[in-house]
Amino acid sequence: MKQIIIITGAGKGIGKAIALEFARATGTQKGFEPVLILVSRTISDLESVASECRSFEATADIFQADIADTAQIERLVSTTLERYGTIDCLVNNAGVGRFKPLADMTEEDFDYTMSTNLKGTFFLTQRVFAIMEERKAGHIFFITSIAAEIAFKSSSIYCMSKFGQKGLVEAMRLYAKECNVRITNVMPGAVYTPMWGEVPDTMKSVMMRPEDIAAPVVGAYFMPQRTSVEELVLRPVCGDINE
Ligand SMILES: NC(=O)c1ccc[n+]([C@@H]2O[C@H](COP(=O)([O-])OP(=O)(O)OC[C@H]3O[C@@H](n4cnc5c(N)ncnc54)[C@H](OP(=O)(O)O)[C@@H]3O)[C@@H](O)[C@H]2O)c1
Repeated sequence: MKQIIIITGAGKGIGKAIALEFARATGTQKGFEPVLILVSRTISDLESVASECRSFEATADIFQADIADTAQIERLVSTTLERYGTIDCLVNNAGVGRFKPLADMTEEDFDYTMSTNLKGTFFLTQRVFAIMEERKAGHIFFITSIAAEIAFKSSSIYCMSKFGQKGLVEAMRLYAKECNVRITNVMPGAVYTPMWGEVPDTMKSVMMRPEDIAAPVVGAYFMPQRTSVEELVLRPVCGDINE
């Protein structure tokens, strides 16, 4: 059966790994025919991920959009509905972070982070949830972070945004349980992705990899419809490594 799955931030890192894990399931989950709508601001990344997904026989469609812009959110959702008729799953993964001491944070850092992590995530969720609410089915993932519960000194604005996303997750649960929609909050610790830029080898060697997050996310999607995996908390074995 066709499953329409929107993944934001699918061009790199964790979002890319989730797209590929769903694509791989085309051959292993009986009757699963994913239509992956891959979203980010960089079209070349999306083209490359889509081509990898297609190598597993998944359908992959790319959509260049900045989720910080509500007009682009509307265009993403209405085009998806025109092309495919519905949305079964939304993976709210797109996120940004600027990591530096408190005193160096600027208004631009604040607006940039909040406009994607909070504003974009909120308005895309609001728009997609209305579709799921009407059909009384769907699954929304939020890739938040352990920084949604624990503060790190270099991450003041990022932590604010992630604590805020957790607030949205909790609010969404109140709506979702009334209409058979599943909500999963995914809270990873340090994952080696482009978000980190250059990292020393000693740190790289202990960090998780994007596929370590993707596998349980897709596993949660394939749980029986009666069961909602509410939270996934994933950490490097050595614990949190960013102070
Ligand atoms: N890496 C970690 O250690 C870690 C740990 C916990 C949680 N997380 C969370 O996991 C998510 C993915 O992180 P990552 O490490 O995979 O980051 P990443 O490697 O930097 O990838 C982020 C993806 O999101 C896209 N994106 C960013 N802002 C966007 C926007 N406004 N509109 C559309 N797409 C946007 C980026 O593409 P473009 O720039 O081309 O748009 C990119 O494809 C984030 O929410 C992050 O906070 C990461």
